Amino acid sequence: SQSTALSHLNIVVTAGPTQEELDPVRYITNHSSGKMGFAIAKAAVSLGAKVTLISGPVNLETPYNVNRHNVRTAIDMHQAALEYAQHADIFIACAAVADYRAKVVADQKMKKHDDSNELVLTLVKNPDIVADVANMQHNRPFVVGFAAETHNVEAYALKKLTTKHLDMICANDVSSKQQGFNTDDNALTLYWKSGKLPLPLTNKNQLGLQLVTEIIKHYNEYTNE
Ligand code: PMT
Repeated sequence: SQSTALSHLNIVVTAGPTQEELDPVRYITNHSSGKMGFAIAKAAVSLGAKVTLISGPVNLETPYNVNRHNVRTAIDMHQAALEYAQHADIFIACAAVADYRAKVVADQKMKKHDDSNELVLTLVKNPDIVADVANMQHNRPFVVGFAAETHNVEAYALKKLTTKHLDMICANDVSSKQQGFNTDDNALTLYWKSGKLPLPLTNKNQLGLQLVTEIIKHYNEYTNE
């Protein structure tokens, strides 16, 4: 059966946002709900794979048979991802990782100042999780990234495919309200070195299944090279 055919595959999925602390009561984050990543994890399990889901803070139930590892910050997600990736055949980076974190996290609540209407925060770059996984020198998995873009979707997605050394990228046009962040439906265009495939608007569970099926096809070609 299909489920025994995939039972040897270890798939790691990242999902949800990260939260980057500013002080004990405040943080920077984004609108990711985790729905897309959780749907991918669920689809991979339904196809018989062993799945680890590294999730930022979201309000979702863990899908049946999924090994879930919760994290909060990009630094935490980076550490967990590099550990789990050692034993992964396929790594799918669906998380909306904060590109930057506060340079200094205040250990006490920052006070509002009376003498100025401006507050300047200095941010520093977070590690690029999916790029670091794709650059692993040993046990490198097949690596699939996402690209959430509001404009120049194809060009930016292709740039991320090459600069991050990914095997595939899922371009997600997030300029329309009916798809992308925190919606039940989504549409993607998959790109790899020599081709592309649009996956039209449908619910995230259905899309997750189409996406994982397509990823496994490419993974099989890649391992048979
Ligand atoms: O969670 P939902 O509400 O269901 O929404 C789904 C989604 C819109 C979040 C999802 O479909 C999606 O597009 N995820 C990627 C979001 C994103 O942050 O994309 P990006 O273009 O900024 O990042 C490019 C890739 O690098 C992504 O695979 C991302 O996981 C990865 N990345 C980015 C920064 C970083 N420091 N480390 C990373 O690994």
